[in-house]
Formats: sequence, C-alpha cells, structure tokens
Amino acid sequence: MFTLAHLSDPHIPPLPGCSPFALIGKRITGYLNWRLRRGAHHSREVLDALAKDMRAHGPDHIAVTGDLANLSLPPEFAMGREFLRSLGDGKHVSVIPGNHDAYVRGVEKIYLDAWREYFAGDTPGAFPFPYLRRRGPVALIGLSSAVPTLPFFASGRIGSAQMDRFAVMMEELPREQCFRIVLIHHPPAGNRPWLKQLDDTQDFRDVIARLGAEMILSGHDHVAAVNEIRGLERPVPVVQVPSASAMPGDPRGGGAYNLYRIDGAPGRWTCEMETRGVTANGGVETLRKQKLL
Ligand SMILES: [Fe+2]
Repeated sequence: MFTLAHLSDPHIPPLPGCSPFALIGKRITGYLNWRLRRGAHHSREVLDALAKDMRAHGPDHIAVTGDLANLSLPPEFAMGREFLRSLGDGKHVSVIPGNHDAYVRGVEKIYLDAWREYFAGDTPGAFPFPYLRRRGPVALIGLSSAVPTLPFFASGRIGSAQMDRFAVMMEELPREQCFRIVLIHHPPAGNRPWLKQLDDTQDFRDVIARLGAEMILSGHDHVAAVNEIRGLERPVPVVQVPSASAMPGDPRGGGAYNLYRIDGAPGRWTCEMETRGVTANGGVETLRKQKLL
C-alpha cells in the first residue's frame, strides 16, 4: 500500500512586514483584504498542528497543491521553503503553485528557485511544468495554473504550450503500470465564480477524457469536495481540501488534510481517503473516510 498525504492553501501566516512600495499595484488590495478579513481566518497554530499530525502518520509522499503565499512577497517564498522543509525533502514532498504564489508579475523565478527541489521532475527538462515524479506505484503529474491576474481576479490558466506537454506526458505514461495523480491548484470541476475559474477547464477535461487518470488533487476554494470528470474508462475523482491553516469553525471548513491509501494494481486500483482536521480544542482527528476507487 502507498499512502499519499495532501494539503493545500496553507497561506502561511503571519504576513511578513514589507515596505509600502512593495504594495503598489495588486498587492495593496490583497494586503487590505488580509488585514481586514482573511488574516483572521488563518492560524499558524492550526497549520503546525496539521503538519505535525501528518508527519506522525508517516505518509510515503506529501502533495501540496499551492497557495503557500498570500501576496507573493519574496519573504513569503522563503517561509514557504521552510514550511516545505518541515514536511520533508524534495524526494518526499511535491508542490505546485497557486494563484497567490503568482499574485503579481515577475515572481515566478523567485518561487521556482526557492522551491526548486519540490517540483524537480525525475527527468530534467527545459520546462518546470508539467513535471513527472514516479514514487512507488504512483506517478505525480504537477501542473501550474498560477498566472498573474488583475485585481479581484483569482482565475488560473494552464496555457496551450503547457497543455500540449501535459497531453504528450499522459500519452507516454505507461498507464498499465502506474496510478496517475494530477496536481492542479484550480479545480477542473465544481462551481465557483467565473473570476476564480480555470480558464482552460474544457481543454484539460478533454485531455483527461481522452487519456484518463486515476485521481486529480486541487485546492483553491478552501472547501472539502469530491467531484468527478469524465475519464477514459471510468470517471476521475477531483478532490479538494480546505485551507490547511483555516481556523476551526471557518464557514468554508476548518483546516484539514487528506490521506489517500492506494492499493491494488492496474485495472483494479483501490483508493481510500481519510480526512483529518482540527477540532475546536486544537486537536486533530479523523473527520471522515470515503472510498474513492
Ligand atoms: Fe487559496
């Protein structure tokens, strides 16, 4: 059996200090939003409690599906690196960026450098995304939907060049040999306002319908959800987890992460999901179990 842990959207608190000049542009809206509203919903204590509980379960691998930062300030990427290191090294932890990691233009190189070991593919290539990481029976395919957008937008886009590379990668993967898990911050299923959507959802769905996958892991909405999209031989579950730093009682769901226990073999895979989340007294407990495959 292979156990994968999945957390998302830690929005690692607290927001570091910065000069007023750094807030010129879109960051000022995010800064005010954090100070007036969002900051009260995220807790470092919750994030640390979940990370500790996750480590105690000894998963074979950990997937972090984006939004480690809030405003894409360079110190936030350093905080992200420290957090990833607290989970494990690049062999055992995979990350993809979210829209808050690409909040403004010109930061991609900073997070690529800071988190390089966590999205280094098995085969060095010219492009960071999509990456392919084989771990035991699992193939992790990491996509980036993180693109800078206008203020008040939180949409994402894979883009045609990355989508083409993704399709080729999925075509070449020996599907008879591995459990394929696609990581993408913006979920390609479920409902949300159009300004938070993945722009090329249909193109992504077309690739999955043509080539299949065993599971898709996302974040973005800060809610627990399991939806399905059309696959090759059967529907493919699209799983979302709440923010890993959300306070207990948050209307969208208190901080939680998922454990996926993957067993079986091609054609007869099984996958059981266990959701563990924070409680009002600061503990972490199993909230639900669900059979995905
Ligand atoms: Fe987020």
